[in-house]
Amino acid sequence: MENNNEKTEILNLRKELHQHNHSYYVLNQPTISDYEFDQKMHHLEELEARHPEMADPNSPTQRVGSDLNQQFAQVAHKYPMLSLANTYNEQDVTDFYQRVKDGLEGEDFEIVAEMKYDGLSISLTYIDGKLTQAVTRGDGVRGDDVTNNVRTIRSIPLQLQEGSGYPHEFEIRGEILMPWTSFERLNQEREQREEPLFANPRNAASGTLKSQNSAVVAERGLDAYLYYLLLPNTVEKTETKPVEKSPSMQLDLFGDMMNTQPVQQETDSPTDDAGENEVMHTHFGSLQQARQWGFKISQGMKLCHSLQDVLDFIEYWDTERKNLPVATDGIVLKVNSLQQQRHLGYTAKSPRWAIAYKFKAERACTRLNEVTYQVGRTGAITPVANMNPVQLAGTVVKRASLHNADIIAQLDLHIGDMVYVEKGGEIIPKVVGVDVQQRTADLQPVKFIVTCPECGTPLVRYEGEAAHYCPNDTGCPPQIKGRIEHFISRKAMNIESLGPETVDDFYQRGLVNDIADLYSLTAAQVSNNNPNRAVSARNAVTAIRNSVNIPFERVVFAIGIRFVGETTAKLIARKFRTMDALETATKEQLLEVDGVGEVIADSVLQYFANEKNRATLARLKEAGLQMSLSSEELEGMTTKLEGMSIVISGVFARHSRDEYKAMIEKNGGKNVGSISAKTTFVLAGENMGPAKLEKAQKLGVRIIDEDEFLRMLE
Ligand code: IVH
Repeated sequence: MENNNEKTEILNLRKELHQHNHSYYVLNQPTISDYEFDQKMHHLEELEARHPEMADPNSPTQRVGSDLNQQFAQVAHKYPMLSLANTYNEQDVTDFYQRVKDGLEGEDFEIVAEMKYDGLSISLTYIDGKLTQAVTRGDGVRGDDVTNNVRTIRSIPLQLQEGSGYPHEFEIRGEILMPWTSFERLNQEREQREEPLFANPRNAASGTLKSQNSAVVAERGLDAYLYYLLLPNTVEKTETKPVEKSPSMQLDLFGDMMNTQPVQQETDSPTDDAGENEVMHTHFGSLQQARQWGFKISQGMKLCHSLQDVLDFIEYWDTERKNLPVATDGIVLKVNSLQQQRHLGYTAKSPRWAIAYKFKAERACTRLNEVTYQVGRTGAITPVANMNPVQLAGTVVKRASLHNADIIAQLDLHIGDMVYVEKGGEIIPKVVGVDVQQRTADLQPVKFIVTCPECGTPLVRYEGEAAHYCPNDTGCPPQIKGRIEHFISRKAMNIESLGPETVDDFYQRGLVNDIADLYSLTAAQVSNNNPNRAVSARNAVTAIRNSVNIPFERVVFAIGIRFVGETTAKLIARKFRTMDALETATKEQLLEVDGVGEVIADSVLQYFANEKNRATLARLKEAGLQMSLSSEELEGMTTKLEGMSIVISGVFARHSRDEYKAMIEKNGGKNVGSISAKTTFVLAGENMGPAKLEKAQKLGVRIIDEDEFLRMLE
């Protein structure tokens, strides 16, 4: 009995949380506090853990993503994802308007003007109100199936608003974007970790969506706006192999819509008569409908009745778009009537009924005065252009990254040159060119430095790397401070009460020169005997002392071996289990770790070959840091699956996929994303993908179910 109650509760909670997600992420009007939301989510997680048989990839709990490596299956689009013809000025827009007018032979028409979002396009399929597939544009004919990653995007409904009259099956297209705020936060974090920055939110969104790890996607705060609805029923009637046909075969999209609606027949519903309504025969109307179903529909859409309306819209948004939370790079104009769209049809590449107007990239010209050089934690040198201040897209720009020596050479930069600066995605300024006409004979080419600007050590350039490095890692101040900042950072030792300023202060006062020095700091030293700082100093010392409990795998990350990121550190820690074993690891052993190639293996060897690093580790060990996996972590670790390469596929009843992944790793096996001749076996649950099944059979790879797998581990 209790069981049934819990199952009902799961279903009710899911429904409720879907609604709260919609209020929060789509409508921007939350109706409960974050705290209450978290409580409910937590409760649902508990209930779902007790009822694995109720697992559902569309449950709101699944938005957190999974650590599993994904490999993306390629999927053919039902209808090709076309691009739009671009226009750049008023005349082009006027010409488009006239072409439409001529094409419609004097019929009245309306144009829908909407934002052109600068992200990456996505096609979403819904069946019975549930998100079933999300595919990137790819080459327009086939794209990557990124469904698992897309499920983590909060503004994309996993379950549509019940009773809102959605059709049985449909596809909707739109743009996935990284809002400016998420983009800035991400780049700040990357800067701290000395990872390459994303040039603009589009690249960041695209990099994120293609991430192999949906948990990463979940953290990155992506958003989505939808701008094009396609309904399939009539499509199926007209086309058997739609992808190969000309796009001009398109489609009475809304003809049969009402027949396909699942529920919802009450007479007073706002969407009831939609199928018969004018509204459902228009692009504008279809998107209003989609909004009712729960989608986030593009902002600032306008129904234009004249060319002047269109031009006014463009002029207004040319400046107003800067206040939007996401990047836009133009305006899209679409003929509103679907019937008129069909009449106008398509060229080989794009619809004749729509066009994109691109905003001008903002660019400024100013004088390059000097190139200075920054030294990062790993010793990487970044050249920076220092210029006369110039106004660009709303801010004053006077510095811009030049990335590396190759870029400087490509631009053939001379000191005193008049350079063009653009804001890549309008936030990070970059030097895009030189006005050579204005160069006078006396100007000298920029000469990349040969010694470190901070410590004078000759720079080196590693094979295959664009950057120059200062190799004096134990004597160069920004490298020393950078290493300490990395060591205390959240994903490493997480010593929250210290920050870059305190590290700088400790370093200036000669208190810390090395990460191990942190553990001998006293409260009196930290406060510099200032009674006003006594409390915060005690807290800092306590936080440092408490960090000795941080698990071994994070210590491996924290010590800052070049190129060893968080994930690699985890894998290395699990393979070698103790710092001593890692210290004596051979290159061959290191190369056995998933994701470790020549560069990382060499870097680990170099780190341990350095006597100073070994001395630091000895002091950290003395301070009590975790230098091996804990007995808890070691418990249950076996070599039963050693040397085995295992693919997980399908939905499981007894454990989650993450749990199976952890079991594989704990027992010495390797979880891999795709089936190959090297795969030892596939651990298959319900609904294993047909492509995987076929591949496994073709290659003669064994398929085992979860019971058999669990028996193997007994
Ligand atoms: S409509 C057949 N509407 O621009 C027309 N596209 O070159 C389908 N885009 O690949 C596209 N905002 O990624 C449309 N409001 C909008 C858009 C939009 C951005 C992107 C889309 C497409 C590209 C067109």
